[in-house]
Amino acid sequence: MSRARAYTNIALVKYWGKRDPQQMLPFNSSLSLTLDQFYTETSVTFVDDVADQFYLDGEVQPVSAKITHVIDLVRAQSGLQKAALIRSDNHVPNAAGLASSASAFAALALAASTAAGLKLSRRELSILARHGSGSASRSIYGGFVVWHAGQDDQSSFAEPAIANTEQVDFPIAILAVLVDQSQKKVSSSAGMAASVATSPFYPVWARTAEAAIPKMTAAIAAKAVDKIGALAETNAMQMHATTLSADPPFTYFEPETLQIWEKAREIRRKGLNCYVTLDAGPNPKLICQLQDVEKIIHEFQKEFPNLTFTSCRPGPGAYLVNE
Ligand code: PMV
Repeated sequence: MSRARAYTNIALVKYWGKRDPQQMLPFNSSLSLTLDQFYTETSVTFVDDVADQFYLDGEVQPVSAKITHVIDLVRAQSGLQKAALIRSDNHVPNAAGLASSASAFAALALAASTAAGLKLSRRELSILARHGSGSASRSIYGGFVVWHAGQDDQSSFAEPAIANTEQVDFPIAILAVLVDQSQKKVSSSAGMAASVATSPFYPVWARTAEAAIPKMTAAIAAKAVDKIGALAETNAMQMHATTLSADPPFTYFEPETLQIWEKAREIRRKGLNCYVTLDAGPNPKLICQLQDVEKIIHEFQKEFPNLTFTSCRPGPGAYLVNE
């Protein structure tokens, strides 16, 4: 049995659109920060059984096609012909735009490959995790991570955005704001497919996001939280513009999402760094300086007493947990 833990990540330059849905190749590169608060722990044992089995938080679940795909790749690479018994514990609010699939497939890739006796490099792990969920390729690493779009299976992998370091030695914090715990209405895969197929803005999105990668990398190297936040907010809104401009149009925004964005802009006018990013769900994340976290929460709670906040710092890459 092998057990692994992986943390979620928040994309500062988003992945939005599959160039090749089978191989899970994206149109554009993306860049994220791994967070230290939300994680998945998964154990995998290969057993003499007829079928794979999957338990989530102690309850048996159907084995999704994506899980089967990742386990099949592990079986093909290792030559093992056994069934996988998978037990996952999720410490992430499920499917509410907090990217539980990223931590889930990163943990699965590490646990399953180790249980099968494979000793994959982190690049190989990132490629394996990508087949379950694109964003999972980035959760193999800690800190700031870039996923290179690549041309084919082997060239589409993630690695630290700043050469050889997963440490973040400046006071950036991410405030996860929970406005809605319900399941998302449009899955990220369905949303991406609709944007790619029907938004006239899509090609411009993909080009603009790719061009944002070196800008974001420079802002990270300069440890400039304000620049990182401003670039991330612009990129997030450009991504959401491809849903609003799809045919038929759709959105992940809820009324509170827009109120929170407006409040963040008001807080900025008071001189604090407070920028918004949003994924395929209504819960925004605020990018700010660690020393401003309490003040920002206070500002929000004056107006929105029901919101809950989780303050996150940069987190580690995926690792094996001792049984
Ligand atoms: O990896 P997926 O299929 O869950 O897609 C993630 C998409 C976004 O969260 C919206 C953006 C990203 O890069 O994480």
